[in-house]
Amino acid sequence: TLLAVLTVLASYLVGSVPAAAWVARTRGVDIRKVGSGNSGATNVQRSLGNGPALLVALFDILKGALAVWGAAWLGLGLPVMAACGMAAVIGHNFSPFLGFRGGKGVATTFGTMTALLPVAGLAFAAPIFFLTVGLTRLVSAGSLLAAAAAALSAALVGPPWLALVFAALALLMAWQHRENIRKLQAGTERRFGEKV
Ligand code: G3P
Repeated sequence: TLLAVLTVLASYLVGSVPAAAWVARTRGVDIRKVGSGNSGATNVQRSLGNGPALLVALFDILKGALAVWGAAWLGLGLPVMAACGMAAVIGHNFSPFLGFRGGKGVATTFGTMTALLPVAGLAFAAPIFFLTVGLTRLVSAGSLLAAAAAALSAALVGPPWLALVFAALALLMAWQHRENIRKLQAGTERRFGEKV
């Protein structure tokens, strides 16, 4: 329906709001030019500290959740809700405000997955993320393992098509982390809090 299409487009726009780049800019920092160069909460933490990073993480999580909840509020079904969450992640990763570049989609994917299937985000993704980052201080590794765990949980308890959606989101996240994956393999990936 037209309403569904418009809601997906609106979700893309919500997702494309580049919180990390804009918060950094208010502090006189070009987020694309510091640390990993990524427009995300991890890189904001690196260059601006915990407060701004938390703000960016919460905002980016909300973008995914609001896209899903907005569709639900309009009476659209779970498939359209999922499409809206995916659109928010795509907006975050390929933002018109950043020349169709953007972040890696970790926070927004978490918001989307948790809004669609709370157990996936709260009982699988979040614990795996904090455990991995706590043990290794590698945010990228924690993010990728958390997304994989969420996709696994969707395969266990969700409808099969939703598991496919989660797998697609995890694969997109892995693609966005291709540079991180190279560095993880080379043993040169930045640890949480490392400035370089
Ligand atoms: O927030 C995304 C995280 O998984 C990696 O970010 O800046 O270390 O490439 P970064």
